[in-house]
Parts: sequence; C-alpha cells; structure tokens
Amino acid sequence: MSKPRILVARAVFPEVIDRLAVHFEVSHNQVDAAWSKADLIARLQGMAGAFTTGGERIDAEVLAACPDLRICANMAVGYNNFDLPAMTARGVLGTNTPDVLTETTADFGFALLMATARRVTESEHYLRAGRWTKWSYDMFAGAEVHGSTLGILGMGRIGQGIARRGAHGFGMRVIYHNRSRLAPEVEAACGATYVGKDELLRTADHLVLVLPYSAESHHAIGAAEIAQMKPTATLVNIARGGIVDDAALAAALREQRIAAAGLDVFEGEPRVHPDLLTVPNVVLTPHIASATVQTRRAMADLAADNLIGYLVQGRPITPLNPEVLGAA
Ligand code: DGY
Repeated sequence: MSKPRILVARAVFPEVIDRLAVHFEVSHNQVDAAWSKADLIARLQGMAGAFTTGGERIDAEVLAACPDLRICANMAVGYNNFDLPAMTARGVLGTNTPDVLTETTADFGFALLMATARRVTESEHYLRAGRWTKWSYDMFAGAEVHGSTLGILGMGRIGQGIARRGAHGFGMRVIYHNRSRLAPEVEAACGATYVGKDELLRTADHLVLVLPYSAESHHAIGAAEIAQMKPTATLVNIARGGIVDDAALAAALREQRIAAAGLDVFEGEPRVHPDLLTVPNVVLTPHIASATVQTRRAMADLAADNLIGYLVQGRPITPLNPEVLGAA
C-alpha cells in the first residue's frame, strides 16, 4: 500500500523529516524557501497532511483548493494562522503544540522583562559603541523588578508560568486579567490576583502580554490603553504581533509616556515598524520565546506525532477541533 503524502512547509530538524519518512511520502522545504499562497496551494495538491509552523495561513481558499488535505499540524502553540471554523467545516483537523514549550516560553518572558526593566540591550549598545568612559550614579538606572507589581494579560499555561516566576522567584505582587477567572487553587499556586483590565493597566509596574491573537484581541494594547499605564511602567509582548498597536507604542516610547518595552512579536513580522527601530528604550527579539534546542525539537516531534497519530493510527495527540474526529 502506498504511504500517505504530506508536506513539511518550512525547514525543520532533519531527524524529524526522517521520522516522518518512515510513515509518509514526504515533500519538504529544507531550503526554507519563502512560498506564496499560490505556491503553498500548488505544493499541497494530493497531500493528506501539512506540517506548518504558524506562518502558513490555512484559510477557506487554501482548503477549497486542496480537497485531499485531512490534517494541518502546527509546530506552535498559537494557531491564529488557521481558520479553524473553515477547517472544521471541511473536516480538516488542526493540531498545535501546547505544554512542551510552556516553561521555556515563560523563561523567555521573564528574560525579556528583566532586559527591558534593567535596560540590558540599551546599555550594551552604548558600551559596544565605545561611549563608556566613566561610571556615573544614574547611568542606565532602570526599574526595580523584585518586589514590584507584575501584571499579566492572558493567563493560560504560559501566563501562569510567568506568574509563578514573579511571585515565588522575585517576590512580586502578581495581578492578572483574563477572559475567564482561574480557579482559586490555580490562582493560589501562581500567587496571582484577578483584576479588571483597567486596574491591570493602571497598577502594573511591568505588564506582560500572553494572550492569543484573534479579532477580539487585535490592538488590545493601543494608544488609549498605554495612556492608562504608569509613566514608569514597562510592557512586554511575547504573545503575537497585532495585539499591540506597534505605531502607537513607538510614539509612546519616544515621548517616554511609558518607560520601556520588550517585544518578541510584531505586526506583520518579520517586518518591524520602522519607528521601533529608532527608539532606544525598546528591546527587540525575532520571535524566539520558545527557541531552545530541546523545546524546538519537542515542538517539532509533537507536530510529527500528531501527523502520525492521526493519519496512521487515527489518534492525534493535541487536536484543536476534535469534532472533526467524530465526523471522520
Ligand atoms: C508559538 O508556539 O505559538 C510560538 O509563538 C512559536 O510560533
């Protein structure tokens, strides 16, 4: 019997391609070429599965043009690249990679918070430019982290990991806002207190965004929300581009309406709003919050396990629209 055909849309660990090749006829993109939507559609012809990485938009147009597609396995916990209702309507399963990246991503959220509050990259650029000629009492004096108030917008697994680090590691008062309030025992384990969004914005010394991107969360932090923040506050976005209005943030940073920001994700990435590149009080990283070798490998393995689990064994590991399974 011939093996099912799958497409791996981006370059990935060769060992993962080898694992997939045991079960599938694999077409891959190990040269990591940038494909247009038309390229993606052309390459998905006759494919039962797609290994995607979050950058490939799977929408009604792609689905209509690729009738053999049965599963799209994202190597990412976020899946805003999937039109999930359209996938469900077509009987196409979506999967993502939760859990395996939680702690690593929470570590990075904290790293970005620290770098932002303590002006790590700004001071390094100063040193590298040869501008450090003498010590002075107020040189790169930043914001206190320990003992301050940590605000978290979006309190899923990663938000909870950041809360634990803040409350238990840095003695921070942790407040959060989320669509739904956590159970009391989960709040207690995270050391976190639920507040309304306005109170979160007004009270946090450091605000970390960890909410999923959707039409509802588009520009959840814009000029009006930034105006509510303390002038000494810092803002960190490790969630998704588009949650922050980057133009409004760049203006606020330039005018020092908030102290600083740390951004790992951007509207329209990999493009970065040009104004963000010219303000000094922002730390910029290229969407690397989950990027440790072990975690990226675990994410790739889980995406592969979902393809094998569904197409070979009929049991995906982390389905996003399990109603498709009942209908299959
Ligand atoms: C995720 O898993 O969603 C990360 O942002 C990597 O894309």
